Amino acid sequence: MVVSSATIDSLLKEKEEYPPPKSFRKDAWIHDPKVPREAAADPERYWADRAKELVWIKKWSKVLEWKAPFAKWFVGGQINVSQNCLDRHLDSPRRNKAAIVWEGEPGDRRVLTYQMVWREVNRFANVLKRLGVKRGDRVTIYLPAIPELPIAMLACARIGAIHSVIFAGFSAKAIQDRAEDCHSEVIITADGGYRRGNVVPLKKTVDEAVEDLPFVRHVVVYQRTKEPVSMKKGRDVWWHEAISDVDDFCEPVPMAATDPLFVLYTSGTTGRPKGVLHSTGGYLVGAATTHRLIFDVKDRDLYWCTADIGWVTGHTYIVYGPLANGATSFLYEGAPDWPQPDRFWSIIESYGVTILYTAPTAIRAFMRWGDEWPKKHDLSTLRLLGTVGEPINPEAWRWYHKTIGGGRCPIVDTWWQTETGMILLTPLPGLTTLKPGSATHPFPGIAAEVVDENGRPVPVNKGGYLVISKPWPAMLMTLYNDPERYQQVYWSQVPGKYFTGDGARVDEDGCFWLMGRIDDVLNVAGHRIGTMEVESALVSHPSVAEAAVVGKPHALKGQSLVAYVVLKGGAARSESLSQELRDHVRKEIGAIAVPDDIYVTEKLPKTRSGKIMRRVIRSLVSGQEIGDTTTLEDPGAVEEVRKWLAEVETGGA
Ligand code: PRX
Repeated sequence: MVVSSATIDSLLKEKEEYPPPKSFRKDAWIHDPKVPREAAADPERYWADRAKELVWIKKWSKVLEWKAPFAKWFVGGQINVSQNCLDRHLDSPRRNKAAIVWEGEPGDRRVLTYQMVWREVNRFANVLKRLGVKRGDRVTIYLPAIPELPIAMLACARIGAIHSVIFAGFSAKAIQDRAEDCHSEVIITADGGYRRGNVVPLKKTVDEAVEDLPFVRHVVVYQRTKEPVSMKKGRDVWWHEAISDVDDFCEPVPMAATDPLFVLYTSGTTGRPKGVLHSTGGYLVGAATTHRLIFDVKDRDLYWCTADIGWVTGHTYIVYGPLANGATSFLYEGAPDWPQPDRFWSIIESYGVTILYTAPTAIRAFMRWGDEWPKKHDLSTLRLLGTVGEPINPEAWRWYHKTIGGGRCPIVDTWWQTETGMILLTPLPGLTTLKPGSATHPFPGIAAEVVDENGRPVPVNKGGYLVISKPWPAMLMTLYNDPERYQQVYWSQVPGKYFTGDGARVDEDGCFWLMGRIDDVLNVAGHRIGTMEVESALVSHPSVAEAAVVGKPHALKGQSLVAYVVLKGGAARSESLSQELRDHVRKEIGAIAVPDDIYVTEKLPKTRSGKIMRRVIRSLVSGQEIGDTTTLEDPGAVEEVRKWLAEVETGGA
């Protein structure tokens, strides 16, 4: 099992504890230990009570129907997500409250009230309808972080179309694979977006992607940068033109709670991304409840989740959770160090952000850029901080707590996954005593355990597999068009329990300490990347015969990618080839998947049955102990891999 440096560090520091400040506890949504106790005693009742806080077109008849591995929540219920996120606030004082406060990278600003978002969503829903989009159709969204991204998502939700948002840093090939997998006939994009002062040519990338997708009927293009783009007659439609002559109202479609709301592709242990499918009713109950209670959101807050909407964090905690709760969600388009490394702190000061949710990789970058940047700004409006994406090393935790939170803000270290849809392990800021580096406890109503390979609970402080033993409302429904893979990936390792793919241990106080992935999935700068995906990209290059990709610890990114490649006969190792391979991976997947190091080697170390010994390579590359080698066919292989690594790394390209 891979033990991350964060865990080793946390083992040393775990005695350090931070109880909730009295002033915070006093006003927090949850400050009574009875809440998690009662939820644990009757989770279905707990979730049914939370579901009652939403607006239902028709009430459910059954809270949970559990035929493992398929869970149906709020069976018989009808609900519309856009109605819950928008319409229901219009009859309250929230009508003219800011729903989205936005800043573009060049410094442009927009504030959209609930009424304004509602109107745009209705109009765009009518545009989609006019383009022939019907309930159940899939719509691909490839937009920068501008208000039109949540507007497009909510417009899909309004008419019952299933959106598939693709992170705007992904390549044409990645869009093509995803649009093909879910057969999406309509794609929504922009002419471009801004990143570190450059224009990212999104429409051009979509053009490349759809060249080989004859079923794509329409590409809707929002004008963000006003750079010239090519528009294909009959297929391509300008957003501003299409929206100019539609009705201002579109009836929200009553959806079954168990209908899908969206598909979101994520990396797994094979070369093919998985289309994680989320439900309508259960997902929204999970998103709204966790957002309100974990971030302790009140009407006066300005809440900022810095994730990209293209990842699940943005879906649940920029769009659906905050808007369902009538909160004000801040959205920023660009990079944290543009034009200077204090962009985040200047935003917090200028708008008075009160809650900040970001990733450990960003926190480590801020630490490296130096305290002078946050020190220039008044951050005293902040009252709560959060992290997500990977284990946070205690040093970064303490820096975040002191330098950003002024020592007064609780930090919620939230553990969850694309598949879980909502946070499952987390402190409750008005209740939980924090330990830097630990995601502490399961959220009320969540049953989490750490078990061995036979599914038996492991003793206190012993590492094992993190599993979830009862269904939860926002859990994935299945993998798009692939229920067998769903069953095999998540439900076959430990029968009857959801297999997270993460290692963890539980300490004597019942606090969970995450220990990283136990499969071939990596976490690079908060982005999930399957090593197999990068390997398939590499072997799709004409010069590459075989490839092995592993992760190694990286001071800023958490992990970085290292690739070992065997060339086809005739191909010569050279610096230009390494560059070509990097460019190739960028083109196949996107910049986030480009390996930091590429080594050309004569052969890859394999077991006698011919499997590449990734686990051994990975452990040795990370400088970690190998752990259990009994399953290796040839224990002497470790020595051989050690020798092989030494050879490769001295003679690599
Ligand atoms: O390994 C865990 C890590 O991120 C993985 C999920 O990645 P993804 O589906 O991309 O979703 C990221 C945002 C929800 C998990 O399997 N992870 C996420 N949060 C934490 C974490 N590891 C430790 N601590 C966390 N707080």
